[in-house]
Amino acid sequence: MQNMESSLNHYKFEVPEIIFGRGLLTQIGSCARRLGGHKVFLVSDQGLFASGWVDKALKSIMDAGLEVIYYDNITSNPKDLEVEEGAREYIRHGCDVIVGLGGGSSMDAAKGVAILVSNGGRIRDFEGPDKIFRPLPPLVLCPTTCGTGSDVSQFAIINDTERRCKLTIMSRCVAPDISLTDPDTLETLPDEFVCTTATDAMSHAMEAFFSVASTTLTDVHAIKALRLVSTSLVNAVRERRPDDLENLARASLHAGMAFSNSLLGIVHALAHPIGGLYDANHGSINAVLLPEVIKYDIPVVSEKLPELAWGLGHRTDGNIGTASEVVQEALDHMLDAAGAPRSLRSLGVDRKDLPELARRALKDVCIVTSPREADEGDLLSILEKAY
Ligand SMILES: [Fe+2]
Repeated sequence: MQNMESSLNHYKFEVPEIIFGRGLLTQIGSCARRLGGHKVFLVSDQGLFASGWVDKALKSIMDAGLEVIYYDNITSNPKDLEVEEGAREYIRHGCDVIVGLGGGSSMDAAKGVAILVSNGGRIRDFEGPDKIFRPLPPLVLCPTTCGTGSDVSQFAIINDTERRCKLTIMSRCVAPDISLTDPDTLETLPDEFVCTTATDAMSHAMEAFFSVASTTLTDVHAIKALRLVSTSLVNAVRERRPDDLENLARASLHAGMAFSNSLLGIVHALAHPIGGLYDANHGSINAVLLPEVIKYDIPVVSEKLPELAWGLGHRTDGNIGTASEVVQEALDHMLDAAGAPRSLRSLGVDRKDLPELARRALKDVCIVTSPREADEGDLLSILEKAY
């Protein structure tokens, strides 16, 4: 599929209500109440509890006069069984609004619970685009990392534990009613996760920018995200300055709005089966794949490279050859300086699985919007270079 960006004269751009600012986690309760809720189902993960953010959320909900059921049986790369158990708990307790607090795992799990309580069935029934037909309960999502974009996106990614693969659910229905970001929550995020989640945001921005479904609106948000990541990633990891962390939270939001509306590409088409098979960190996988996929895409996106180079903080005076070199060097430099993982081997991926991973990626919905067509051999070649 070649680049169709210029042919997209008609498009839509979907975003939830967005609330962003330091200290605003205290507004969770009033958001849930404003959506008509009386009993909140709060989905988070056990790892976040020690940070104190869960207590803040619980207090906010109770201060708003609402009841709350806290559900934390969520692991990284959230599993179908965890989501299905959550849905049973939501129904058993008679909840009427869902709040997801945490990284992508908690927020995607909250989306999964919302899908099941209104539609029934198993979560695998909703794999693919537009398979949800009944409206979801009110949903508030609050990210505590700087990368997933789940708080604004029309995607939910859940692990199918039987098939050991990731289910990509894509629907307008799974974008929440309210996205609430409090950048203060990043202050307790370990350096490693600042790096890997921001790298996920960078992948969202670059893939959205190159996507065949990109538009003027998605490009604006993608480039803004890249400006923020390139300015603040290394300083945020090394010095933990609140302003840099806030910039990364903002980058995640912009990148999320971009990819939710333009979809993604080969990085995510490959990252989903790898995450499904190995339960590996999503941002780490993207950090490894992104440079190789950008190299693969460059021949068909040359006209967009000077703007991408500008997004990464470099002027190229419109010279495509210079921009190509600048983009690749800037990306490598940023990933190295931030301490990102640089090989699939270092993530525990077994070389013998690469052909199967390439086969599975061909079926992932993200491959559809890749700017450059890829067959199984092309995907295998990218995986081998990233190994
Ligand atoms: Fe991602």
